[in-house]
Amino acid sequence: MRWLLAFTIAACTSSMDRASNKDAGADAAPMGPAEVTFPQGFLWGSATAGFQVERGNDASDWGHWAKACKTRSPACSGDDPNQGPDALAHVDDDIKALKDAGQDAYRFSLEWSRVYPTRASFDADAPDMTGVTAYATLLQKLKAANITPMVTLNHFALPDYLADITKPDAPYGWENQETSDLFVAWCGRVAKRFGADVDWWVTINEPLNVVLGGYVQGSFPPGLVLQMPRAFVAAKAEARAHARCFDAIHANDPVAKVSYAAHLRTFTPLDPSVPEDVSAAERVRYVFNEWFLNAVVRGDWDDDFDHKYDGPNDKTGDPALKGRMDWIGVNYYGDTLVSYTKGIRVPVIDASVIEDHMPTTRPKTDFAWDIYPEGFGVVLDQVAAYKLPILITENGIADRNDTMRARFLAEHLYQLGWAMQRGADVRGYFHWALVDNFEWASGFCPKFGLYAIDPQTKARLSRGSVATFKGVIQSGKVRRSDVDALPPYGTPVYCQ
Ligand code: BGC
Repeated sequence: MRWLLAFTIAACTSSMDRASNKDAGADAAPMGPAEVTFPQGFLWGSATAGFQVERGNDASDWGHWAKACKTRSPACSGDDPNQGPDALAHVDDDIKALKDAGQDAYRFSLEWSRVYPTRASFDADAPDMTGVTAYATLLQKLKAANITPMVTLNHFALPDYLADITKPDAPYGWENQETSDLFVAWCGRVAKRFGADVDWWVTINEPLNVVLGGYVQGSFPPGLVLQMPRAFVAAKAEARAHARCFDAIHANDPVAKVSYAAHLRTFTPLDPSVPEDVSAAERVRYVFNEWFLNAVVRGDWDDDFDHKYDGPNDKTGDPALKGRMDWIGVNYYGDTLVSYTKGIRVPVIDASVIEDHMPTTRPKTDFAWDIYPEGFGVVLDQVAAYKLPILITENGIADRNDTMRARFLAEHLYQLGWAMQRGADVRGYFHWALVDNFEWASGFCPKFGLYAIDPQTKARLSRGSVATFKGVIQSGKVRRSDVDALPPYGTPVYCQ
């Protein structure tokens, strides 16, 4: 089930017969401009998510899943998320880390179950004031440091009173209308409390990855495999919940700028000369990259995911959905190979996603994901068609030894600047991640941080590649000759 590891988030792969990155040649790519530049006021930052960097989010489905999943999914590490960077106790260190890297923005998420740990506390609107104060303090300190916050309202984890991992056969989490209803209330309450200090809001992080991990690949709660009908119910609920959350935020924070964070990829046909592979790749691309955006930007509702708006439950221009994006948040990590016949067949979508990425000669990350900067430009061109401002809400690499991150950053930022020259209205870039963190099913093995964490002291330890990122931020440009002069990609260190 390795194909979804590159598609969602799961264990580092180990046993593949991998080529070293020294042997890997980049795909032939068109030559871009000699230099790309970023405008004044462009937001430069890093991202994290509450469950991945905080301690004590045990009253969430992920809190339970992290303990149980090793027995439920072979992809799970069994690592304890509480052993991570303990971000709420190290706010000053994180702010210093942001500043030292020249950044002026920070994306983080509020953990719903930290603020409302029980159903009774939610129903009575009696938040846990320790949790509220921790987030208020973080926001005040960011403000004092002139760092623009971007707040995510749901980054994968749900409170356990809405998502019971011991009952995977019952409707779970987003499948229940109650989850959406409470989520919308959560959005409104947070916007009311913190709206004066926050302008940039992300409703749901990667709604389709939640569904892929939970209902297709099985490494996320509720741990189900290839359960397409339930996957679609959850995805549709998230789209409608996003639209209502958008309204709830705006009702409480009139100057809010709201998006969800869309994980967008390129999808390459395994054999471009086989028409079935080409059409299979296009079907997956549509469902993964477009279906949700079409719903919440244009109000075009494709109820049966067939890329047509002619079914009994389909609708175009639905006023309950249309226009519920002030900007588009893009998370970009790379490419997925798709075939019609080979790999694991996904029912309904009628396409197979190739189990591992090795058929390409592209360099690999520690996660065995292909490094494909050109794909960043491709998805930006696609998303620019929605004619909304874009912010890169995540982009980064698992690279424990930091022998790839500098080149990865430079190549991706070059592609970003080039896409902006072609017309993509990009307003900011958030690197994933500020610090090494709990990488969901894969635990602490993959290292995405600009900063490593000392396991004992929790000190933030700067990686060398920070200098490359800071150089781009300070100069506001990337020169092609500087990218070419960087050392080639190092050898990945696969987990396990
Ligand atoms: C998620 C992050 C995750 C990152 C790297 C993104 O899909 O939003 O939570 O850590 O990918 O796998």
